[in-house]
Amino acid sequence: MSRRLRAALGALAGLLVVVQGFRIDRTNPPVEQDVAAPASVEALLRHACYNCHSHETVWPWYSHVAPVSWLLAHDVSEGRRELDFSTWTAYPPARKIRKLRKSADEVAKGKMPPWYYALVHPEARLTAAERAMLDAWTAEAIGRLGP
Ligand code: HEC
Repeated sequence: MSRRLRAALGALAGLLVVVQGFRIDRTNPPVEQDVAAPASVEALLRHACYNCHSHETVWPWYSHVAPVSWLLAHDVSEGRRELDFSTWTAYPPARKIRKLRKSADEVAKGKMPPWYYALVHPEARLTAAERAMLDAWTAEAIGRLGP
């Protein structure tokens, strides 16, 4: 190994040790007003969406290892901000309708759950039947909220 490569690897290892010290917010705030959905839909949301879109995130061991932890924490805070099933009933009807529509849309397009998440979480890969179930539920819920 050349001296330069050894120095570079040493610097990288040192950097990895240093970044482990940065604090990451990995908290789960209390569940306020959880979404009410039929049991089958709730199960689907829980195993495909709740890790990023609720206060019931299960933080895996690698969520403690930088820099992966930063990506995870970022996804969860962004995810909760966009759509939070743990504060769902506090959403005004128009926001609920918008988020339900978007959910059906994103899932149909294969954008949610994100591909890299599905890669390491096989339970989040939705079958055609599950997508159809989600579609039916969002349509029905929008119907109940709408005029
Ligand atoms: C790995 C974390 C993760 C998972 C799992 C996940 N999402 Fe997301 N979701 C995000 C992030 C981050 C955003 C915000 C950035 C973006 O739009 O890509 C987002 C955005 C969204 C939005 C857009 C909200 C808006 O108004 O623009 C919807 C709707 C959504 N997700 C629905 C879902 C549904 C439904 C599931 C489950 C089938 C799901 N997501 C699973 C991370 C996730």
